Amino acid sequence: MRYLIFTDIHGNMEALLAFLKFVQKRKIDHYLFLGDLVGYGASPNEIIQRIRLLKPISTIRGNHDKAVCGLDTVQTFNPIAASAIHWTRDHITKKNMSYLYKLKQGPMIVNKDIMICHGAPFDEDHYIFGEFDASEAFLHIPVQICFFGHTHFPFVYEEKDHIVEGTFLTGDVNEIKIEKGVRYLINPGSIGQPRDRNPMAACAIYDSNAKKIEFYRFPYNIEKAQKRIIDASLPPALAERLAVGI
Ligand SMILES: [Fe+2]
Repeated sequence: MRYLIFTDIHGNMEALLAFLKFVQKRKIDHYLFLGDLVGYGASPNEIIQRIRLLKPISTIRGNHDKAVCGLDTVQTFNPIAASAIHWTRDHITKKNMSYLYKLKQGPMIVNKDIMICHGAPFDEDHYIFGEFDASEAFLHIPVQICFFGHTHFPFVYEEKDHIVEGTFLTGDVNEIKIEKGVRYLINPGSIGQPRDRNPMAACAIYDSNAKKIEFYRFPYNIEKAQKRIIDASLPPALAERLAVGI
């Protein structure tokens, strides 16, 4: 089976279009989406409509999806993120709002080997930054591989004999082998708002037969995504950050 893992689109239609082009050229058996369809970007409705066409897919909600549909407040959001949540609430259709409302809460067990979550398996809103958080997360993972999002950084944590080591993935293509006796906690990076100073969109493909995970970065039309944000009167900082990947 070939799984395509992607997360944190954040209303960025141009990044999603580049992603859809990327997957067209590849054989994918199952899509795994880790949350945050909306928030920040100017195309929440278009994103939801496109994602609904991807099949088969396992999808969980992110903190922005939750805040937009009213399942959470914006109290924990910074002012710019909160203003994007309010903008999205004002522009999303009833049907798409209802889709967000019905998204499942992570963690979700996909099969006997794979789990997905947005932030951490013990708290969908928690950020996994470093080995301490990862060690806590592994206590809540009953399978070999758990994929997570939320931080927007491509990262691999490996746990062997109760020792956890993290690796930040630099460069545009990476590959890891899945070894027996090792467990994995993996973030593929973000589609619509990368924050690792690499502005290219990110995703990963897990080939369960070949026992390997490939990590990809691909360019998209950042200028157009920025223009959409400015034209929508969203905070200009949300457009500026896309160009530098922060
Ligand atoms: Fe996010």
